[in-house]
Amino acid sequence: MKLINVVGARPNFMKIAPLVSAFGSTGCIDQFLVHTGQHYDSTMSEVFFTQLGIPRPDINLGVGSGSQSVQTAAIMTAFEPVLLEQAPDAVLVVGDVNSTIACGLVAVKLGVKLIHVESGLRSFDREMPEEINRVLTDSISDLLFCSERSGVENLRNEGVADDKVFLVGNVMIDTLLRNRTKADESPILEDLHLAPGEYAVLTLHRPANVDDSRVLSRILDAVETIAAYHQVVFPVHPRTRNSIESAGLTDRVARIPNLRLIDPAGYLDFLKLMSSARVVLTDSGGIQEETTILQVPCLTLRENTERPITLEMGTNHLVGSDSELIVEAYHQALGARTSPVEVPPLWDGQAASRIAAIVQEQFAAAPV
Ligand code: UD1
Repeated sequence: MKLINVVGARPNFMKIAPLVSAFGSTGCIDQFLVHTGQHYDSTMSEVFFTQLGIPRPDINLGVGSGSQSVQTAAIMTAFEPVLLEQAPDAVLVVGDVNSTIACGLVAVKLGVKLIHVESGLRSFDREMPEEINRVLTDSISDLLFCSERSGVENLRNEGVADDKVFLVGNVMIDTLLRNRTKADESPILEDLHLAPGEYAVLTLHRPANVDDSRVLSRILDAVETIAAYHQVVFPVHPRTRNSIESAGLTDRVARIPNLRLIDPAGYLDFLKLMSSARVVLTDSGGIQEETTILQVPCLTLRENTERPITLEMGTNHLVGSDSELIVEAYHQALGARTSPVEVPPLWDGQAASRIAAIVQEQFAAAPV
């Protein structure tokens, strides 16, 4: 069987790593790796390939940045000739970024089977570009692999046939479990002079939080208050750096004592930073899941989440972007008892092997 795997943006890399490895172990899947080039800075892309042992992409489409439509269209235009030339049996896409829907759409338009990993997640917030990408990708996929039960239920509610849907666990957690020991050796805490359990980590990049200067300012007010209690380490996403500059907030950010801005961190350094943090504040999707496994309190600076299992497990709390509510949630998180939480079903490091077995079986019997 010939399979094209697609990656494009940072959160795709930790998802594809265990899949490439599991498909390789089958001995009967010929893989071709496409990088769309949606993310291109080495801190946003290359470092993950090196640290996670992902093979070099067979091709990089080099599309770069652009508006939602320009970027999506550029990926489609660049991916189509690759697909025609490679003529795979299936295309596999992960997550919910623009590269996911763009390549998925090209595949199905050419009659190539589409496999979606991390299927069925729904925030029910159509203002998020990712929610549009998720709904559309799932509606055209032939095999849909879910990381949590809510995904299966959402797909059923949308009328997706049960026999296309598989609950397999979380490939991003496969990567976390595989790299935890290595991450423990990261020198990032010493480099930043941080004591374990004595600092907070902040990440921000959602357009809803960073592209509107009023919302960004509200979040910064909360960060300033929190920074009076704990050092706050803030690896700054390029979108956020641009937003801070264009909103004229650079000096304000620089004046917050105890707020440490750093470049986007590599996988191992970031895993180490999260694991030893007192609390994590984020608007990322993946970090909500990683902190669940690491048992670190996570305050999600959003009104909704497509990953409700993280709320059920008790590590994640939705706090929105109101400064007072963020600070209140921070104090609550510090006071909360840290009793061991349950681990979501199937988040056991074996999700990619389950996916490889199912793909092999489905394509061996008869093309899906
Ligand atoms: C994208 C994904 C988002 C994911 C995030 C992780 C979509 C719709 N969004 O958002 O789901 O959570 O990646 O990071 O696909 N830039 C650089 N260097 C890079 C990449 C981006 O400087 O290597 C800057 C550019 O100014 C670009 C901006 O960041 O315009 C945003 O990048 P883009 O890929 O459009 O979206 P993200 O915000 O990264």
